[in-house]
Amino acid sequence: MEVIITDSYEAMSAQAAKMIAQQILHKPSSVLGLATGSTPVGTYKELIRMHKEQGLDFSKVVTFNLDEYVGLPPSHNQSYRYFMDHNLFHHINVPTGHIHVPYGHAESVLDFCAWYESEIKRYGGIDIQILGIGGDGHIAFNEPGSSLGSRTRLKTLTQETITDNARFFANMDEVPRFAITMGVGTILEARKIIMLANGSKKAKIVAEAIEGPVSSQVSASALQLHRDVVVILDKEAASKLKRADYYKWVYDQKAKLMPALIGKAT
Ligand code: F6R
Repeated sequence: MEVIITDSYEAMSAQAAKMIAQQILHKPSSVLGLATGSTPVGTYKELIRMHKEQGLDFSKVVTFNLDEYVGLPPSHNQSYRYFMDHNLFHHINVPTGHIHVPYGHAESVLDFCAWYESEIKRYGGIDIQILGIGGDGHIAFNEPGSSLGSRTRLKTLTQETITDNARFFANMDEVPRFAITMGVGTILEARKIIMLANGSKKAKIVAEAIEGPVSSQVSASALQLHRDVVVILDKEAASKLKRADYYKWVYDQKAKLMPALIGKAT
């Protein structure tokens, strides 16, 4: 696992966008795994800027989002499809047919989830997966207790996540209780994973996920089992890491001696 500690949310976002852009330049038909939430918004802004100002081309890129609420149509302003359209897809040239976001109105959630998994495989798997981390350590909507081998499925959200989400809805009753989410096992099959976290509210769970034991109680800790994970943090989110000085040292050594290795887990 490589841990990169940056000075600010903007620096974290720029670093992540740079790695995604490198991936697209290296393989124009890259399959990107994408997350919603407040964390990746700056990364998406930077990718949009690169598209508009530098011609970063998404015309062959294929995307798979991690999750979606059950019961919200894609047109609902709190659906993850709506979020992605407005924060990224409408501002770049990714063809609509290349975009995959779990469908929260599927007639059979079971069939839909099996199809989603098979689509990821049909496109050759995810090249680079972007993740945020929830206050309870979830990645995608893999709430504590999710099997570390889980696949795309229906998940009941925890009360903590429902309360966290309540600020976006008119009242508690409107907040979805269920989501379709990629599983931890699905995520671990991505060839490369970038997890982002910012702000002091995330410091404790980030330290547990990176430096604590691997446990289904903190889904993000499963990333320790993956061979190519880069965690990019701002300094507040990194503030409870015991080995922060070592991570900074590794980064500085690479920057000085082998800059091409930055962003490659070692
Ligand atoms: C969203 C997702 C979630 C978020 C997490 C953090 O697609 O997969 O796991 O990444 O809840 O959310 P923010 O970024 O809003 O703190």
